[in-house]
Amino acid sequence: MDAVSIPSPLREARQLRRVPDACAVVIFGATGDLTNRKLMPALNTLSRLGMLPEECAVIGFARRPMTDEQFRAEVAQAVRGATSGAVDAAAWDRFAERLHYVQADFREPSGYDRLRQTLERLDREHGTAGNRLYYLATAPELYGEIVQRLGAHGLVTRPAPGSEGGPPWTRVIVEKPIGRDLASAQDLNRALLSVFRESQIFRIDHYLGKETVQNILVFRFANGIFEPIWNQHYVDHVQITVAESIGVEGRAGYYETAGVVRDIIQSHMMQLLTLMAMESPVAIDPDAVRSEKVKVLRAARRIARTEVARHVVFGQYGPGAIDGQRVPGYRAEPRVAPGSRTPTFVAMRLYIDNWRWAGVPFYLRTGKRLPKRVTEVAVQFKRAPLPLFGDSAAGEPNLLALNIQPDEAISLRFVAKAPGTTMTLRPVDMGFRFGAAFGTEEMSAYERLLLDCLLGDSTLFTRRDEVEEAWDLVEPILSWWEPSTPPQPIPIYAAGTWGPEAAGSLVAGDNPVESSRLVVLPDLAQAAASAGERLARRCALAVAGRGECAIALAGGDTPRALYARLASEPLRSRIPWRQVRVFWGDERGVPPQDPRSNFRIAQEALLSRVPIPDHRIHRMPAERADAESAAEVYAALLREHLPAAADGWPQFDLVLLGL
Ligand SMILES: NC(=O)c1ccc[n+]([C@@H]2O[C@H](COP(=O)([O-])OP(=O)(O)OC[C@H]3O[C@@H](n4cnc5c(N)ncnc54)[C@H](OP(=O)(O)O)[C@@H]3O)[C@@H](O)[C@H]2O)c1
Repeated sequence: MDAVSIPSPLREARQLRRVPDACAVVIFGATGDLTNRKLMPALNTLSRLGMLPEECAVIGFARRPMTDEQFRAEVAQAVRGATSGAVDAAAWDRFAERLHYVQADFREPSGYDRLRQTLERLDREHGTAGNRLYYLATAPELYGEIVQRLGAHGLVTRPAPGSEGGPPWTRVIVEKPIGRDLASAQDLNRALLSVFRESQIFRIDHYLGKETVQNILVFRFANGIFEPIWNQHYVDHVQITVAESIGVEGRAGYYETAGVVRDIIQSHMMQLLTLMAMESPVAIDPDAVRSEKVKVLRAARRIARTEVARHVVFGQYGPGAIDGQRVPGYRAEPRVAPGSRTPTFVAMRLYIDNWRWAGVPFYLRTGKRLPKRVTEVAVQFKRAPLPLFGDSAAGEPNLLALNIQPDEAISLRFVAKAPGTTMTLRPVDMGFRFGAAFGTEEMSAYERLLLDCLLGDSTLFTRRDEVEEAWDLVEPILSWWEPSTPPQPIPIYAAGTWGPEAAGSLVAGDNPVESSRLVVLPDLAQAAASAGERLARRCALAVAGRGECAIALAGGDTPRALYARLASEPLRSRIPWRQVRVFWGDERGVPPQDPRSNFRIAQEALLSRVPIPDHRIHRMPAERADAESAAEVYAALLREHLPAAADGWPQFDLVLLGL
């Protein structure tokens, strides 16, 4: 089959049963974990389902000495381990005949000569027609060298510029991570492109092989009713969560050098973000889809170093319990440094500066040892403009949840009237489950992506500019967190919880939409309690982010009620007073001991009752006769102690204007 004429997988129904060209698949790292757990079971399934061509051979390439027979026995064990029921013996026998092994160190040139001889033999014996798919399933440090040697040994057919290539064709699948920062990703891309053309390179992110991830595109662009409201006019915010209940398992060696931002944010979460936020592509083809995804990444606002603390919360799991079982903290895991600062959790707020999304926060949250395994994208819509049925209904915005794992499902939350004589409103969910609706067994992500690559369709693989833009976006966050002199200790969260408290505040109490909301409470006591709770959350967030919290206090009677709350338990103990700095938003022109002084009110009701150090209390020198110069002195003080925003103005974490 000619690769150019192959229909796109997203446009065509799978029943069309496309079967790829004859080819040889070479797996670099054939004895590794990925090969055993994912690649071989996926290839065996494709073979069993008749989705591999008859003329197909699979060559394992690794350094352990093994005969073809020993290799087949090892793969048989891997396939058995990955199959829940009994392995189809006849199908396995057919697959086993395709398996071959070449032993060499990837750095040893003679290994590539042996590989070429094996491939030429298999072209004759299996009719693999000179088509090659190389799968780099080994340590990323080796990718550059393997690719160079493939080129040098004449193992790559490079198509003419502008041509799709083949037959015979050569393709390469590159596993993540693609680099560990922008510069190393660019280096790797340059190395790949010195041997292959971009159309031959398939950078795999297995998230894109999941049905529900692909369904984000179908949901958005095959239905007419969602796109009109998929924008800043109707969407309040978007939350993307990738939660794992497992810890670092056996991957500490890798994880200690990677951390959660490289492991999940730069790859999987960027894919979810771009699919959620992209414009409609002009066609469902690889370049049209990927060009729209890249535009989202370009429009995503880079977080300045000075702003990272306000938009990002890091955490690391401590000891705790998952499903009732005690589990150790990250630092007690094998091969983790005792004082490790590697983050296992991150929550962040991103903005996409384009017309569709201006001002809409996207909250990304991912972590290990969270209470359950779940991947979900939730779109929260704006509230009804008028609370016709009272506050209870106004408090429940519509929520569209796209569940990606463990259940693949879509649900929409709306408000309904509960049965009865009173107008009592309740949120209800309208749901759709993929398994129940279609009743068919889904393809695994690796089955799907291997098949697409064999068919030459790169729609679900990441393009060079996509990877590099994603690195460009996360790099300021990494470079803020990973300097040689750490800015702060890492917040520890108990395993089995949803991460540091500050992460919850990032969404709940701290987003601009929430803070611009009018909250009506029945009396001053409840208003003070609610404001105290918000202040404590805001404080925890700021301290977790940049090590301290700057608050501007107010005077008058209503703040006095709040101050009394803050000075009493439980809020008094929850607020990290030693890291708080207080200023005043306004002051009366009187000495500090005057009963009308805003400073005196705060001092008596709050500051003298909590352990805030004196040097962190910055009162206005309002008793001075020359108010202008007093204001200048205070302005200089603010500039000295407060972080500056992008426009240079000093920024408070919280300004109290009364209640
Ligand atoms: N495992 C996963 O679930 C997973 C998921 C996503 C991405 N990935 C990525 O996939 C890649 C492979 O991961 P993995 O977990 O499978 O790694 P792994 O278990 O360490 O396997 C590495 C493989 O490479 C071979 N190898 C290493 N150095 C070699 C050399 N100098 N010459 C010849 N062979 C050499 C090893 O052969 P020997 O047996 O001779 O050592 C082994 O077959 C990595 O880039 C990883 O980041 C893995």
